[in-house]
Order: sequence, then structure tokens, then C-alpha cells
Amino acid sequence: MTEPGVFYGVGVGPGDPELMTLKAVKVIKSAGVLAVPKSEGGEESLALSIVKKAVDLGGKQIIALPFPMTRDQEALMESRRSAARLISAKLDEGLDAAFVTLGDPLIYSTFSYLMPLVKGYSPGSEIRVVPGVTSFSASAAALPAALAETAERVIIIPAAYELEKVREALVSAETIVLMKVNRAVDAIIDLLAEAGLLERSFFVSRAGWPEQKLVTELRGLKGGKPDYFSMIIVRRNA
Ligand SMILES: C[S@@+](CC[C@H](N)C(=O)[O-])C[C@H]1O[C@@H](n2cnc3c(N)ncnc32)[C@H](O)[C@@H]1O
Repeated sequence: MTEPGVFYGVGVGPGDPELMTLKAVKVIKSAGVLAVPKSEGGEESLALSIVKKAVDLGGKQIIALPFPMTRDQEALMESRRSAARLISAKLDEGLDAAFVTLGDPLIYSTFSYLMPLVKGYSPGSEIRVVPGVTSFSASAAALPAALAETAERVIIIPAAYELEKVREALVSAETIVLMKVNRAVDAIIDLLAEAGLLERSFFVSRAGWPEQKLVTELRGLKGGKPDYFSMIIVRRNA
């Protein structure tokens, strides 16, 4: 019987190909198959476009895995199951499969949902993770601002869901990293103003990309439509 391949989750960093690790490049080069998440809009996967700037993919076998941009849990689960089945079929042929993901594979990434599903379809396979530079590290570096010093606490919270949790986070740590801010930016700016934290908040969009944008006067963002690749870092002690 063929020995099953290894399923790799490979973080490719926040966008600048120079922030890919040597290990990410090595694993991508040696994997038999590259698995790339693709949004339903049909545009090329962002993770793949980063990889292409750093690695010559030559005749590499690439499987594009469509994931809908939806909160419909059943549709999401079905897309993950069908992605896991495709990956598992490759592993069962004895090929290693590298699933590339923006930033790090274990923070707000589809990869963590795929791990147990792939293991379920291919129980004999091994899972390995290549960590990547996260978007919040790249955003802090772009400012540059410390994320934490000495005994300070950091909270990372996706701001797209429950605003009440964001309100709680603002009083629970010295640094608050608000991810996925694009859809709720007006409400978040109101919350920050209410908490007296607007002057201690920094907006970063597309950190490390040529289009990188840093904003310190957050009121100017109200009424706008920030990019999906945006976050706000709040430093209460700044
Ligand atoms: C689904 S999460 C992906 C997180 C990723 N796995 C990581 O390790 O950073 C997407 C969110 O990450 C943030 N993000 C990703 N890339 C970014 C960048 N280059 N600059 C600023 N924020 C970014 C945004 O808040 C975006 O809404």
C-alpha cells in the first residue's frame, strides 16, 4: 500500500514575498501538490500570487479550492469537506500537499478547519504546520509600534462579529488588535471615541504591500469603505 503524503499548512506571510520563511519556500518547492484557497469571485488566490513572486512553480500541480465568502455555516462546511476530500485523494496517492495561507495558518485561517477533516478522510496521513508572519506583526512593524512591553496584555479580536465583545476588549488589555474591521469601521470608530481611545488607535491597511496605508486620524475614515486587509491597533498606554 502507498504511504500517505504529508498535509502541510504553510503560512506565506502578510503579503510581502520577502516575508515568506525559508521553510515555507522549501516545503512549497518540494510538495507534490499546491492547494490554494480561492474566493468565489474567481480572482487568483492572494496566497498564490505571493508564492509566485518568491517561488518558480514550473509545472507544479495546483488545486484551487473554492471557499464562499458567506456566514452560511452549512455552505462553509460543505466547501471545507469537499476541499478536504480533494486534498485527501492526493495524500492517498502518496503526494505531499501544501495548503498555502495568508499570514499564519493557525490564526483565522481555513487551514485549521481542514486539519481534522483531512485527518478523518486520510487517517494515516501526517499534518505539519509551517508558521508564517502574521498580519498583526506586519502591521505593528509598519507603524512601527510595540505590541506589548513587560507585563502588558494583548487581545486579538475579529471586529466583524459582536461589537459588545469589542467594547469589553477595549478595557481588558493594554493592546487591542482589531482584525476584520472593514465592514464595521464606523461603529468601531464610535466605540473608540466613546472609550477615549481614538488618539491611541492606528489603522493599517495592506501592511507590507506597495499599497500599504497608515492612518492615525481615524475620524477621517468614517463613511469610507476600508479594504478587507485592514486592521486597527489600539495602544492604551501610547
Ligand atoms: C482571515 S484573517 C487572516 C489572518 C492571517 N491568517 C494572519 O495570520 O494574519 C483576515 C484579516 O487579517 C488582517 N490582514 C491580513 N493581511 C493584512 C495586511 N497585509 N495588513 C493588515 N491587515 C491584514 C485583516 O484584518 C483581515 O480582515
